[in-house]
Amino acid sequence: MGSDLKQNGSSRELEVPVIDLQGSRGERRSVVVQQIRSACVEWGLFQVINHDISPALMKKMFQVAKEFFDLPMEEKWKYSSSERTTTVDLFHGYGTKEFGTKGALDQGDQLRHRTLPLSARAYEQWPSHPPSFREIEEEFTQKHHKLKEHLFELISESVNLRSSFLNDFFGKDYAQTFLINHYLASVEQTPCMGLQNHSDICALTVLMQSISGLQVMKDGEWVSVELIQDAFAVNLGDQFEILTNGLYKSPLHRALLNSSERFSVGVFSCPPDDKVVTPIPELVAEFPPLRYKASTYAQYRTEVMTVPDMVKTLTPDL
Ligand code: OGA
Ligand code: NI
Repeated sequence: MGSDLKQNGSSRELEVPVIDLQGSRGERRSVVVQQIRSACVEWGLFQVINHDISPALMKKMFQVAKEFFDLPMEEKWKYSSSERTTTVDLFHGYGTKEFGTKGALDQGDQLRHRTLPLSARAYEQWPSHPPSFREIEEEFTQKHHKLKEHLFELISESVNLRSSFLNDFFGKDYAQTFLINHYLASVEQTPCMGLQNHSDICALTVLMQSISGLQVMKDGEWVSVELIQDAFAVNLGDQFEILTNGLYKSPLHRALLNSSERFSVGVFSCPPDDKVVTPIPELVAEFPPLRYKASTYAQYRTEVMTVPDMVKTLTPDL
């Protein structure tokens, strides 16, 4: 396939599905539900446009992200968590991460908050500079809560379950996490990794990128998630792969460094820690055999984070 490869190592021919959510609460609903089903079966990742989160808010979020990450290190560290990072719980608040790559280590920093349930918020980790940061994060994550409810309805319908199935299953106490990834510009000629291959542990990730860099694995090749103005990339996480008994994929994805500084802002929806996640009986009946074991979300995280390649061993060869 060598001649088909672009310089960034991705294939030319494959294109990540783009789903227009316009009319998805009305006359276009069944069309959108079908598009979601095929995107989830084939990719586990798609982009959405006309999703009801205003371009102005997306822009403001990127602006305050940039202003925050431009602060001196010692200012940013004020928002780090005093809890130590363990292998099973990623740090919250501000932190840096050395992203290991073959041959080189890339530096990046991140800001991660638990935003829902409200009781999980640690406001001392929310930047007070720039002054509008908190208000914008609040509005942004609130809008994402609404978008998550809508996407969960569409995804439920796409596997022939009642609309409210997934929202009910995750419950009022579902966990929403907000994350800003900040990647430094790469000076290398060849593509460098900003974030290694991984699948997301949660159920659903909705992410916006300031400039391109996100790639998804499709049929053994890396495909770039092209930057589309005002779109979000939506990818399924491991919990949806388990719930659908493998019908839907939690895809491997990664982020390449760009030649300019890059931000991505992701909002993750996850089950509460004590929720037992197991394949939905109707889907096991439709696509037997049972392919995943039941575990609470907390147990699953512990296993994945402590046993390397656990995700791969959980992912069946279909
Ligand atoms: C993530 C992720 C991709 C990106 O944070 O889980 O996959 O483009 N980020 O930053
Ligand atoms: Ni990810």
